Amino acid sequence: MDYQSVYNRSMQDPEGFWREAAQDIHWYQQPTQILDQTNQPIYHWFVGGELNTCYNALDYHIDQGRGEQLALIYDSPVTNTIKKYTYHQLRNEVAQFAGVLRDNDVNKGDRVIIYMPMVPEAVIAMLACARIGAIHSVVFGGFAAKELATRIDDAKPKLIASASCGIEGKKIVKYKPLLDEAINLSTHKPAKCLILQRPQELASLQAGRDLDWQLTTATAKPVDCVPMAATDPLYILYTSGTTGIPKGVVRDTGGYTVAMKWSMKYVYNVQPGEIYWAASDVGWVVGHSYIVYAPLINGNTTIVYEGKPVGTPDPGAFWRVIEEHKVCILFTAPTAFRAIKKEDPNGEYLKKYNLSHFRALFLAGERCDPDTLFWAQEKLQVPVIDHWWQTETGWAIAANCLGLELLPIKPGSPTKPVPGYNVQCLNERGETISDDDIGNIVIKLPMPPGCLPTLWNNDERFKQSYLSAYSGYYLTGDAGYKDRDGYLWIMSRIDDIINVAGHRLSTGGMEEVLASHPNVAECAVIGVADALKGELPLGLVVLKAGVERSEAEIIKELVQLVRDKIGPVAAFKIAAVVKRLPKTRSGKILRGTMKKIADGQTYKMPATIDDPTILDEITETLKQLGYHQSA
Ligand code: COA
Ligand code: AMP
Repeated sequence: MDYQSVYNRSMQDPEGFWREAAQDIHWYQQPTQILDQTNQPIYHWFVGGELNTCYNALDYHIDQGRGEQLALIYDSPVTNTIKKYTYHQLRNEVAQFAGVLRDNDVNKGDRVIIYMPMVPEAVIAMLACARIGAIHSVVFGGFAAKELATRIDDAKPKLIASASCGIEGKKIVKYKPLLDEAINLSTHKPAKCLILQRPQELASLQAGRDLDWQLTTATAKPVDCVPMAATDPLYILYTSGTTGIPKGVVRDTGGYTVAMKWSMKYVYNVQPGEIYWAASDVGWVVGHSYIVYAPLINGNTTIVYEGKPVGTPDPGAFWRVIEEHKVCILFTAPTAFRAIKKEDPNGEYLKKYNLSHFRALFLAGERCDPDTLFWAQEKLQVPVIDHWWQTETGWAIAANCLGLELLPIKPGSPTKPVPGYNVQCLNERGETISDDDIGNIVIKLPMPPGCLPTLWNNDERFKQSYLSAYSGYYLTGDAGYKDRDGYLWIMSRIDDIINVAGHRLSTGGMEEVLASHPNVAECAVIGVADALKGELPLGLVVLKAGVERSEAEIIKELVQLVRDKIGPVAAFKIAAVVKRLPKTRSGKILRGTMKKIADGQTYKMPATIDDPTILDEITETLKQLGYHQSA
């Protein structure tokens, strides 16, 4: 099948295209309308349809006679455990856990927060919610209590599923104290918390609120799938916005299930029965879509990996998993490959493993630098596919669709728009930009199934954040260009979001934390280039007049404050005190210029700058921090 004709068809007849794709999943009730356009700019796919995503992910395969096939392999080098679940076993555990939810009065439409490490129980909890129509919201374990509290207050969960601890390399991270603190901080209080007690750390349970996961599950009765409207929310996933308040991206049931199934076949070229591995975390969108939903909906075996690319125990960790479980496709972030390359540049560990069954590597989450792509290509000798997407879309906007045809790879570009996505590059005036000129990357509405229909309880913020810049278009927040061959190049963000080790973070959120320190008058956080993590946050603070404490002490407190308020995942470790921050005459801090100085790029002196000499002071500070070396 050639890419261009499939893409053209998806543009010329989107309803026909997705009607056909929808035939590939199980419906209790077929949709009566493929696309409802009556409430523009909010669109709904598959109106009138009824389905259950958990049924599509588990029971369907059992009904098709594949109950004994492996559905999930839990591979945990940090606990030395490998555990395998057939579709039968996974369905039974999910149905039983759905019984626990029901027993605790969790019903269709109720929210459940899942704050868990990479263990199969996290997947079981997600699917159990889907089974009874409860809306899950998974919160990444690397976030601090305050971030969790913000999400509790927005989602208002009836129940929280969590664990006593996570294991990060050799470190035990206690989750329960973070959960307790978050519930203390939040205004909304969940009625119940289900705690998975892990042998590495036993948590104390609060009588009346906390329940022991294993004990409660043992006595629960299995529950069957509940038919859901295609337009009902399946989950909420919070992602960084430009302020400290995260955005609750809503995923619908029908469009997402159809998109997940389509993408496995045509983007990743994976057949049912094959072993597919997304080395990410269930707390991120990649984990939702490609650890949990898509591989199971497609009848694959998915891998839940509790480990790192390096250090668990060595840079051969990924190759060991690929060989041992016969993984045919791996999906991860470029930063994981940079970590492996750094420790094993010549690929010595790779030589110890047989990867003859391995077909392709997919990378996403951040821009893939050509060096990393070349290294992976050379070492693995398989196609290395950079693809671009975001939490909001739930699946790839641009990719080299392996299930259609392998287009020539241009390192640094995620190739062309995936069928269903009409991607354009516009200038400030909303005009289409000619080839190779950088502009705002937008998607013409309606977006294909699977993409967010709105933000949780906040249609207004959805419209204002994404749909107000250009009428009829969704603003991706990324800047880049389309070249003469129609390839997309995603170069940077247009807002203050940075990408640290494939994790999306808001510098605005970090600035809010720094500004809350009693000694800080004003501050700026910028993302500076980092060879391993892609970007790292760097904070510059101006102290209040009269503060005479040691700067080193204050910086130590600031680093700890960001860790406590946002979490270790922010990797905020570099900061300095400066006398002044460079600003425009209207008072806007020149973050972009400071970033360019830090990264050693040439920059134009902004015409509106208030006092150009401040830039010399900043350059000096950045040099002392080890930046601005190549200028
Ligand atoms: N629970 C608790 N803490 C967590 C956590 C979790 N689930 N995940 C990360 N953290 C902590 C880490 O322990 C670390 O804490 P530290 O400052 O005390 O060392 C901090 O958050 C940063 O973690 P991480 O970004 O994972 O950095 P690292 O230095 O431990 O490892 C890499 C670097 C490159 C190996 C790692 O970032 C990686 O594997 N990245 C893969 C990218 C990925 O999965 N992206 C998801 C989108 S596809
Ligand atoms: P997240 O919502 O956490 O998945 O982050 C999405 C953002 O990560 C995008 O808006 C981009 O800025 C960036 N991103 C993801 N994948 C790519 C890619 N392949 N190339 C360039 N940037 C990417």
